[in-house]
Amino acid sequence: MRYLSVFCIALLFINCKQQIATPTGLVTENAMVVSAREEASKIGSDIMATGGNAFDAMVATELALAVAYPFAGNLGGGGFIVYRKNNGETGGLDYREKAPLAAHKDMYLDSLGNVIPDMSTVGATAVGVPGTVAGVFAVHEKFGSLPIAELLQPVIDLAKRGVVVTEKQAKRIEYYHDRFVEVNGDSTKFAQAFKPGDTIKYPELAKTLTTIMEQGKDGFYKGEVAEKLATFIQEKGGFVTVEDLAKYEAKWRDPIEFDYEDLHIISMSPPSSGGVTINQIFKMIEPHDIGQFEHNSAQAVQLFTEAARRAYADRNYFLGDPDFVDIPFDVLQDDAYLHGRMADFSFDKATLSSDVGHGEIEIVESMETTHYSIVDAQGNAISATTTLNGGYGSKLYSEELGFFLNNEMDDFSSKPGVPNMFGLIGAEANSIAPEKRMLSSMTPTIVEKDGKLYLVVGTPGGSTIITAVAQTILNVHEFNLSMQDAVNAPRFHHQWLPDMVIFEPEGFANTLKEDLKSKGYIINEERTPIIGKVDAIRILPDGTLEAGADKRGDDKAVGF
Ligand code: DON
Repeated sequence: MRYLSVFCIALLFINCKQQIATPTGLVTENAMVVSAREEASKIGSDIMATGGNAFDAMVATELALAVAYPFAGNLGGGGFIVYRKNNGETGGLDYREKAPLAAHKDMYLDSLGNVIPDMSTVGATAVGVPGTVAGVFAVHEKFGSLPIAELLQPVIDLAKRGVVVTEKQAKRIEYYHDRFVEVNGDSTKFAQAFKPGDTIKYPELAKTLTTIMEQGKDGFYKGEVAEKLATFIQEKGGFVTVEDLAKYEAKWRDPIEFDYEDLHIISMSPPSSGGVTINQIFKMIEPHDIGQFEHNSAQAVQLFTEAARRAYADRNYFLGDPDFVDIPFDVLQDDAYLHGRMADFSFDKATLSSDVGHGEIEIVESMETTHYSIVDAQGNAISATTTLNGGYGSKLYSEELGFFLNNEMDDFSSKPGVPNMFGLIGAEANSIAPEKRMLSSMTPTIVEKDGKLYLVVGTPGGSTIITAVAQTILNVHEFNLSMQDAVNAPRFHHQWLPDMVIFEPEGFANTLKEDLKSKGYIINEERTPIIGKVDAIRILPDGTLEAGADKRGDDKAVGF
């Protein structure tokens, strides 16, 4: 009898995992773009409706976000894509910013060796060499099917026509007002008070995009735009030169790939930490079968937290730009090593991060990167995350060229042991050097199930990106949520240091928190920020696509 009931429970569990959650997000037949703004999703979707592929749509969506979502979409920043073609071929593109040639290890330290406040985060000194334009041209050159003019013209038209301000956007612009003025003076475009419903036009950006459309990558990295950009940054005290711009190249990189149960996960490799860290988290939880616990129950939160704690400790120590540092991939991704890391894990008691590492730091989450997911009618998929780093980057805005510049230099470790704006502490592997890429947490990810395209997922959120992506995948795979429900579900985060679990404001009962506290978990109850803003696509068994567009923002799926 006992064996029979165990058998029945096991059967129920297996069936539960095999059941397909009914979609609750937008479903389309053929193709879809999910991004931070409807305008950008629509431009990308329209490109595919007129015969373009996912790569064409990527070019248009990436640049449309620079117009429609200047908070994070950009010409002055950088990002990563992971792709999977319909024949199963996978790859990744790194168009991450680089440190300028004039950069050096101690550039943000004063004469006493202390980090100079704001220098790596605000204004021209924080700016790394932008990678986005090189990124879109690399994609177009390798995989594009439509002429570049067809991809850029709708974006230029949008910049001329203007974009309607949403309520959330108006709040953000107001929030950053004083910083805009401090960095750019009070006549800067974004010093104006924009109300929801106002239209912001971008004629200068339209002009810059037209030059890029006519001259290609060199229209940004060489000639008039490059000269204006470098002069502007230097006049404001920054380090980027025409030589830096002329030397910039995006790089194709093999993604990190690993299996988790019957899934095959493809995510970004260094200089993003996303792929390695998510690989470690999944492999550490795999032997414990997280799906046997209730979604967001104490056991599920504990298991995930302990894996994240250990993975982030490795992340911060070992990872950096692979062109500059040797990363021990073989060990970091080794199952035996990862299972060993969890050897002291117990459901009875929290592990202390001080037993895994040490440090006293403040954690700051924000949503200033942006992610978009694309699937085309042929089944090609792109997962792309792009950023200026902070909201509106360094806040430095070129009135003449019409875009914001990043503050990505803060993603380096300015000084070992001193946290950056995401509370991440770095080590030698992520120290500053000329032309080096700063370590990122961006985690554009694609998931296959039984060899077929299954999920396209990613998010902004600084250090919380990795945990938000991992939880979204688990929500679908282990807890059988639809794509939209998996995105909506409340999230939590732990990053080794500071040693605390943070929960989103809604969806976690006090009893759960009390239970965790009794086991030694430190819970940050003063700060319950939103964690991530996931834009994802699930491919259903009949080949239709379900969107997960994050309700935490203005995010929207468009498709056909
Ligand atoms: O590359 C990184 O990890 C960061 N620059 C991402 C910044 C980000 O996600 C900001 N938004 N929350």
